[in-house]
Amino acid sequence: MVRQQAAWFGSTPAANRDRTIIIAGASFAGYYTARFLALGLSPRSRYRIVVIEPNSHFQFSWVLPRYCVARGHEHKAFIPYGGHIRGAPEGSVRWVRDRVIEATKNSVKLQECGEIPYDYLVIATGSGVQHGLPSRVNETDKLSGMKRLQAMQASVKDASKIVIGGGGAAGVELAADAKDLYPEKSIILVHSRSALMHRFGQCLQDEALKSLEALGVEVILNDRVEFEDADAGTVVLRSGRSVDCDFFINCTGQKPSSDAFACISPSIISPSGHIRIKPTLQIADDSLPNVYACGDVADTKAPNTNAFIATRQAGIVADNILLAVEGKAAQRKYEHMWIDNGIKLTLGLHRSVMHLNVGSSVLNLESKVEEELMAAECWTHLGEKPYRDISVASCAQKAVDA
Ligand SMILES: Cc1cc2nc3c(=O)[nH]c(=O)nc-3n(C[C@H](O)[C@H](O)[C@H](O)COP(=O)(O)OP(=O)(O)OC[C@H]3O[C@@H](n4cnc5c(N)ncnc54)[C@H](O)[C@@H]3O)c2cc1C
Ligand SMILES: *[C@@H]1O[C@H](CO)[C@@H](O)[C@H](O)[C@H]1NC(C)=O
Ligand SMILES: *[C@@H]1O[C@H](CO)[C@@H](O)[C@H](O)[C@H]1NC(C)=O
Repeated sequence: MVRQQAAWFGSTPAANRDRTIIIAGASFAGYYTARFLALGLSPRSRYRIVVIEPNSHFQFSWVLPRYCVARGHEHKAFIPYGGHIRGAPEGSVRWVRDRVIEATKNSVKLQECGEIPYDYLVIATGSGVQHGLPSRVNETDKLSGMKRLQAMQASVKDASKIVIGGGGAAGVELAADAKDLYPEKSIILVHSRSALMHRFGQCLQDEALKSLEALGVEVILNDRVEFEDADAGTVVLRSGRSVDCDFFINCTGQKPSSDAFACISPSIISPSGHIRIKPTLQIADDSLPNVYACGDVADTKAPNTNAFIATRQAGIVADNILLAVEGKAAQRKYEHMWIDNGIKLTLGLHRSVMHLNVGSSVLNLESKVEEELMAAECWTHLGEKPYRDISVASCAQKAVDA
């Protein structure tokens, strides 16, 4: 449930802000767009920014697979909002804790707070997965999200035979962490393709397989978990094979969160569910130059999506809108960079591999990682002191911690 909650940053809005830029979603793409616009608009601008985001906190996706296994860090995945737009002119940003359920050419309809007309719309709703963890939290509230992570940690701890479905980054990282922390458990990773991490170069695929096998994870390729038979204590694979399992973790099925925007323009949603865009990140409809999409929800044709791409796109969207509000043409374009094919993958609690793919040169750089991963850096980056959160009373946090 999204609780109705709207707040102005700074004091009351100046009376002359009669134009609206709506940003739907405030993760990497949306929160950075909000920051760049808020700091870029003239203090006397007629425009106000309205951010619409159902989550109480910025949910830091990178650490979720790890925090499904390692205990005691879960509060670090939920970063208070606000710090990243500190310093914005008074009344320039309105934050609405709500969800866009339908958008038209002129306005967005919210689940709780009615309808808001817009002059510009930025769609930054990313991707999601129905069943939630380990890829998404599937709770809007920090304490509920922490409880879900703790429940997952407890299930992992209590199980002796764990099957993980999906050998992308989340599945590989989670399998490695679980086996590293609990070497005595049977951990089986099932992946439908012929190689783990199939979107990346061979060199990373090989490294992932080698590392998991060295830890003692059993990897089953070219097969898929069709269903879980919890009563029988098995999962059944597409091949017909039945595998003993007392806890199944599903790491597949992420989809772009674009449904609410399908009515803006016909055929704006691609078959994969992404929003079709131009290189300027305006949506691919010439009649709507004031609507943009960026981040995971946008159809950038990139082989990979990640937070660096999302934040870079946020900068382009903000620049183009800042030009447009001054009557100039949107002219900055998104282009792929070689580094977009890279990824940093953890392969156990204290080890990670940075995979870089530069034309014919491929490189895997090893480094040591902390158990909490990069949570503190992300807090600092988003203008917050790790791990200070006045929105969560310490007694409530302790109750959840217990
Ligand atoms: C498990 C995991 C690990 C990852 N690790 C890394 C990593 O190590 N490095 C890296 O660079 N990238 C990583 N990524 C990828 C990275 O998290 C994404 O590329 C990035 O989060 C995309 O940002 P986004 O803002 O486009 O969308 P999202 O992060 O998906 O956020 C979308 C936001 O929109 C909101 N929203 C959704 N629907 C609506 C609606 N209807 N109305 C209003 N708001 C809405 C959501 O609440 C959410 O806050 C990882 C992803 C996962 C799942
Ligand atoms: C989270 O996922 C479960 C299914 O695993 C679903 O029943 C529940 O409705 C989801 N919760 C939210 C808040 O979407
Ligand atoms: C895994 O999750 C996806 C997306 O939620 C779902 O379509 C699929 O059926 C799930 N797999 C299993 C075996 O439950």
